[in-house]
Amino acid sequence: MMFLHKCRQIFRTCKWQRQVRQAVSTQLELLENPSVFALGGLTDEEEAAVAKLVAEAGPGRVVEFGTLFGLTTRLIAEAARPDQQVTTIDNFCWNPFGLPASLHEAFARKVMRTELASGRVELVVAASEAFRTSFARPAPALVFLDADHSYAAVRDEIVWAKSLGVPVIAGHDYGNPRFGVTRAVEEAFPEGVAVHGTVWAWGARR
Ligand SMILES: C[S@@+](CC[C@H](N)C(=O)[O-])C[C@H]1O[C@@H](n2cnc3c(N)ncnc32)[C@H](O)[C@@H]1O
Repeated sequence: MMFLHKCRQIFRTCKWQRQVRQAVSTQLELLENPSVFALGGLTDEEEAAVAKLVAEAGPGRVVEFGTLFGLTTRLIAEAARPDQQVTTIDNFCWNPFGLPASLHEAFARKVMRTELASGRVELVVAASEAFRTSFARPAPALVFLDADHSYAAVRDEIVWAKSLGVPVIAGHDYGNPRFGVTRAVEEAFPEGVAVHGTVWAWGARR
C-alpha cells in the first residue's frame, strides 16, 4: 500500500516536473529577495513613473503589453483621465506561480473586475504579434511594453509603435541582464531614454 502510494507520488512529480520546478524557483526567489513582492510586476518607484507617464500622455489609448495579474493595468486605469482608454494584452503564456493559462486569465479578470465591468479597461487575450497585426489606427497615446522580454519581441514591438507614430513608448525591465530589453531599447533609441528603476521611457517629459 505504502509502496503504491510512493509510486503514485513519484509519477505525479514526474508528470508535473516543469510546474514543480517553477514553483520551487519562485519560492526560492521570494526567499532570497523578499522585497520583490510583485514577481514580474513593478516596484513602488516604477509604479510612480508609470502613473506619471499616463498622467502626462495625451488623449487616446494607453496600451499595455503584458497584463500578468492586472496590477499595473489597474494603476494605469487609475492614473488615466476620462479622455484616455486603457487596453491591456496578454496571451497568458507565463506567470510566476505556474498557473495554467485558464486560471491565470480568470485570476487577472477577478483582479480587474471593476475596471473591466466599467469599461475603463479592455482586456485583449491575444499574442502581441496578432494584436499588432490587426491593430487599427488611431495610434495609441502611450504604449507600455512588458510582455515577451526577448530582444526580438521588444524590437518588433518598438518598430510597430514607431511606425504608428506613438508619441510615448515605454516599458519594463531595462537594465535587467536576464532579458533582451536593454539591447532592443538602445538600438531603437540611440539618443537615450529616461529610466526609473527598470522602467524606460522615450518621448516623455523628463
Ligand atoms: C512580466 S509579465 C507582465 C507584468 C505586468 N505588466 C505587471 O506590471 O504586473 C509578462 C506577461 O506577458 C505575457 N506575455 C508574454 N509573452 C507574450 C506575448 N508574446 N504576447 C502576449 N502576452 C505575452 C505573459 O503571459 C505575462 O502575463
